[in-house]
Amino acid sequence: MQFFGNFKMNEVTDEYIDKLCENTYEKNVGLALPACYIDRYAKRLKDAGILVGAENLHEKASGAYTGELSGSMLKNVGCDFVLIGHSERRKYYGETNEIVHQKVLAALSSKLKPVICVGESERDYLDGKTLKVVKNQVLKAVKDLYSNEIKGIIIAYEPVWAIGTGRVPKNSEVEAVVSCIKETINKHFDGENVQVLYGGSCNDKNAKELKQIKDLDGFLIGGACMDVAKFNTIIKA
Ligand code: PGA
Repeated sequence: MQFFGNFKMNEVTDEYIDKLCENTYEKNVGLALPACYIDRYAKRLKDAGILVGAENLHEKASGAYTGELSGSMLKNVGCDFVLIGHSERRKYYGETNEIVHQKVLAALSSKLKPVICVGESERDYLDGKTLKVVKNQVLKAVKDLYSNEIKGIIIAYEPVWAIGTGRVPKNSEVEAVVSCIKETINKHFDGENVQVLYGGSCNDKNAKELKQIKDLDGFLIGGACMDVAKFNTIIKA
């Protein structure tokens, strides 16, 4: 299984990196950092077998986009992957399915692995629209990709109502979404298989149970990744 941490807009310290890098990992662990820390910590993380990621990129390659970072800039400071379309980006920065799609293309053309975040709102969940919403987000994000590019992407299923709330869906509910995403991709891309993660209040207490979810390939972890002991407990659970 794979374990991706998302540091969000939180400070990263030398102490945290030292502690995390006391262990070595099998490149099945990745850490998405605030952009200003990537250059400082990329080498140490890679030496410990941890993939390095950014939390966002701009969809254009360069130009007059004050404050933004392109895929090639992130690649040049050592990123292996990039989170795209996290629900906080969709909510606070107006990232639509179309922008997410453009960012996926930008990441691929910079040789960054896109970790594409999808997930339904609480309203959609309560209305029983989860599969419909997620399928639509997935298909729009990967529109126009070549079948051989599917191997290079990851889909992270994160119900918006589960992020940072301590609430998690039932395993059977996540299982239904994982299978829907995999079948959708399989059907549209010549039998290709895509990797699917679960994210949303995954922690050291519930990881063992969540790992029972059929066909799940790993986790995207927010809050709990900022505590090395908790992060390692999730990885080993
Ligand atoms: P959480 O965040 O683990 O704190 O719920 C997950 C995420 O936002 O990716």
